[in-house]
Amino acid sequence: MAIERLVEPTLAEDNPEEKRIEISLRPTSFSEYIGQEHLKNNLKLAISAVKKRNDGSTLDHILLYGPPGLGKTTMAGVIAHELGASLRVTSGPAIERAGDLASILTNLKDGDILFIDEIHRLRRAVEEVLYSAMEDYKLDIVIGKGPAARSVRLDLPKFTVIGATTRTGSLAGPLRDRFGIIHRLEYYKEPEIEEIINRTAGILKTEIKPDATKLLATRSRLTPRIANRIFKRVRDFADVNGDGIIDRETATRSLELMEIDELGLDPADRNMLRLMYENYGDRPVGLTTIAALTGDEATTIEDFYEPYLLQLGLLARTPKGRVVTEKGRKHLQNRGNVI
Ligand code: ADE
Repeated sequence: MAIERLVEPTLAEDNPEEKRIEISLRPTSFSEYIGQEHLKNNLKLAISAVKKRNDGSTLDHILLYGPPGLGKTTMAGVIAHELGASLRVTSGPAIERAGDLASILTNLKDGDILFIDEIHRLRRAVEEVLYSAMEDYKLDIVIGKGPAARSVRLDLPKFTVIGATTRTGSLAGPLRDRFGIIHRLEYYKEPEIEEIINRTAGILKTEIKPDATKLLATRSRLTPRIANRIFKRVRDFADVNGDGIIDRETATRSLELMEIDELGLDPADRNMLRLMYENYGDRPVGLTTIAALTGDEATTIEDFYEPYLLQLGLLARTPKGRVVTEKGRKHLQNRGNVI
């Protein structure tokens, strides 16, 4: 059985109250959005240019990629807000047939933004309709079946696609080529995560001591979504076990309860490293084998576990598979996980 994790996006989606808080924490403008300076500068320029031209031209299609939780959806909201445009949100798996996409596209208006999360999971037939829509704002649809079938071309409004993906590698070349702006979101710096935690504390009207903020920032995998989720759990802990103020002591005890270690790993990360090490030592293991060991989907391992473990150097990728590094082994040993 896979372990439920703080890093999983579904956690909030399944829980309306979590989702409501998560949305209330989202920055809406560039000035509120902390970090990703390089991306913000590029986007500010592109948006200013569109506004200055004021000739009905639209923002180039934008592809944002990088590990989950770094703010791709949030950034799409900021772009729409800064442009004064309407945002329509969907995702690759949600668009099942070409007809679904056709209905979304024909309901857009000039200047609207269409955000497609997990764009790498679009079906091929849907992807093909999207190409021509993005390229020349035309929709080619086939009406009828067999000999009576005929093709019609509809004009579409001038819209902008913002696509988000955890991997550009799995995006078809022709689709990638339709994006004028392609940008990777980077892990945040620790002081930026501290700023985000303090901002969240302000919005949720919770007092947090500076050394507690620092501690939480070191455990948040340099990822705002995780920082905010951990913050909310610590806030609950402080409300139940103390006076609601988050100090270092409360934060430490709460992190212990969540079993989040000093590198920000949770039980699921350590479980995966331990299973790999116990079964394969320092030999490479294939992705599907790891998935079989942990009971997760291979894509979950690739998208949610791996990026941060690779970034920390606890795991390495080799042509023959993934290996637990010496640093990874030591970390397990320190935590009493390897005999
Ligand atoms: N909440 C989540 N991500 C954020 C960011 N980058 N800036 C401010 N608040 C955030």
